[in-house]
Amino acid sequence: MHTPLCELFGIDHPIFGFSPSPPVVAAISNAGGMGVLGVAAMTPEGVDEALSWIEDQVGERPYGVDVIMPALTAETAAVDTEQLAAELRARIPNENREFVDDLMDRFALEPIPDDNMTPGGMLTHLAARSQLDTVLQHSPAFLVNALGTLPADIIETCRQRGIRTGSLAGKAKHAVAHRDAGIDVVISTSYEAAGHTGDIAGMVLHAEIANAVAPLPVLASGAMATGRQAAAAIALGAQGVWAGSAWLTSDEWIGRPPPTAMFPGWTDAKQAYLDATSSDTVRTRWATGKPARLLRTPWSDAWEASDSPGYLPMPLQGALVTEAQRRMGHWNRSDIGFMPAGQVIGMLNEIKPAGRIIAEMVREYDEVVASLANTTTGPR
Ligand SMILES: Cc1cc2nc3c(=O)[nH]c(=O)nc-3n(C[C@H](O)[C@H](O)[C@H](O)COP(=O)(O)O)c2cc1C
Repeated sequence: MHTPLCELFGIDHPIFGFSPSPPVVAAISNAGGMGVLGVAAMTPEGVDEALSWIEDQVGERPYGVDVIMPALTAETAAVDTEQLAAELRARIPNENREFVDDLMDRFALEPIPDDNMTPGGMLTHLAARSQLDTVLQHSPAFLVNALGTLPADIIETCRQRGIRTGSLAGKAKHAVAHRDAGIDVVISTSYEAAGHTGDIAGMVLHAEIANAVAPLPVLASGAMATGRQAAAAIALGAQGVWAGSAWLTSDEWIGRPPPTAMFPGWTDAKQAYLDATSSDTVRTRWATGKPARLLRTPWSDAWEASDSPGYLPMPLQGALVTEAQRRMGHWNRSDIGFMPAGQVIGMLNEIKPAGRIIAEMVREYDEVVASLANTTTGPR
């Protein structure tokens, strides 16, 4: 499994692995792929700690960083991050606050004792900028924005420093906007994917985006967990894959790390991930205000019930549920927690090292592509 993206990034295989877990990122890069660390939920100190650790682990091998940076809007400009956080919290209607307080009671989500952590993960432009300031003190090879095109000044800084840029796209018109802004790689993110997703299936989206932005390289994202799926992505016009769910059942996935700045606290969901079928995810707005695919739980169902006030827009919804989400992580509530997962989770039924996941993907890819040679029309 080898495409021109391997030369562009100096990697052995065009397998890009997204994870918020630093050990997964290091393992992917060390196995010849490109590990990309999601820093959206981290404080700047956590980003620094995580990137220093990854750099120690991977040496000269490249790694990437993914931020969630929404566009700067008039209402989120010209105030500092703490002031903005306070202003946003003040704008949350009482009805929504009461609903979440009631849910926390209903699901027995007790306060965290002796809680002295500063929560990260405020999904605003300015919060992502402060994470990026820290990222740029390190040496990533790839910088990706989950939500829209990176701002022009950041694209320019990256270009000067030899950092390639990428952006996720759930529609062909978004991919074209990324290309026109000077982004190096588009990540075509389909309906099946974990986390924030659009509503177009991969079989349509990857081909549509590859056609729309050619010859710009495209990574197919959404259900990329096996060599067979990677072969389909390359056939659709992608030059590589971007996988997120594949690592949730890896040895290195840290479900429930110690609560340091580096790890803001996730629910230990490995067993829930192993047990889930491909029908057990839902696209829901409860965590951030934008549709994101997570494991379906009684908590996500409660947001769809008739007494729910519905969802606030990003970033208000995220601010509304931050405390609940932190409690879910602290109390390790995999019965209701925040557990991003794509539909491919139903195919992930065994815990393996990330390096083995990559080796198996590459082997299966080569076998599948070789077997396809027998399916062409014409002289054999
Ligand atoms: C635990 C987890 C957290 C995620 N958080 C982010 C994120 O912060 N930023 C982002 O760009 N994508 C995030 N994603 C989505 C991935 O980047 C990717 O688009 C998706 O996982 C691809 O689909 P797949 O899960 O079927 O492989 C997350 C995915 C997972 C599994």
